[in-house]
Amino acid sequence: MELRVFANEHILADSASDMIIAAVAKKPDALLCFATGDSPRLTYQLLAQKAERQHIDFSKCFFIGLDEWLDIEPGNSGTCHYFLHQYLLDPLGVQSSRVHLFDGLTKNEQQECDQMNQLIKNFGGIDFILVGVGMNGHIGFNEPGTAEDSTTHIATLDHTTRTVGQKYFDTPVPINKGITIGLKQIIEARSLVMLASGKRKAPVIRRLLEDDISTAFPGSLIRQHPAGILVIDEAAASELQKELYDPGIEKR
Ligand code: F6R
Repeated sequence: MELRVFANEHILADSASDMIIAAVAKKPDALLCFATGDSPRLTYQLLAQKAERQHIDFSKCFFIGLDEWLDIEPGNSGTCHYFLHQYLLDPLGVQSSRVHLFDGLTKNEQQECDQMNQLIKNFGGIDFILVGVGMNGHIGFNEPGTAEDSTTHIATLDHTTRTVGQKYFDTPVPINKGITIGLKQIIEARSLVMLASGKRKAPVIRRLLEDDISTAFPGSLIRQHPAGILVIDEAAASELQKELYDPGIEKR
């Protein structure tokens, strides 16, 4: 894994959006997987601007969503479905035939998991994945203690995820379960970029980099990824021991 620390969130997002563009330049028919949430929002906004200016062709890529809340209407602005359409898929003009998102209202959870597993398998794995990290260290909805060899599954959300997750919703909703691509599929992605910014994430980043590598804190698994890049800003790096990184290197 490589650690890149940027002076602020804007510079971070500028760099992360360039990483997505580079992934598509390298493999125009890539299987791309994207998280939602506060961490990638600005990255997607900058990506959409650059894609228009630079005429980047995403038409051969295939897009999948990392996760979804279960039992919530996709029209609810707090869902991953809504977010990905608003900030990524619609601004990039991605055809619906090139997208697979989880159906959070599915009546057949196993089938929903099987479909995603089969899709990822058919593509020979994920080429590029962009994730955030939760306050409890989760990646997607792979909560602490999730098996390292897990594929797509239904997750019972822990207290932190249920509480913090309310920030995405206009009115309080019960969020108890989620569906998520599994740790194995995430860690096996050929390129893995994880974003974290802001002071709020500083204790998360300290644990992620300084605790033992363990599914007790799933974000720590990125350290085993040969092509993993952890992209953070100085606020998120502020609780790290200084010798872990040189704050001068990646500032632009
Ligand atoms: C969302 C997802 C979650 C978030 C994480 C951080 O699709 O997969 O794991 O990445 O909870 O959320 P933010 O970025 O809002 O701090």
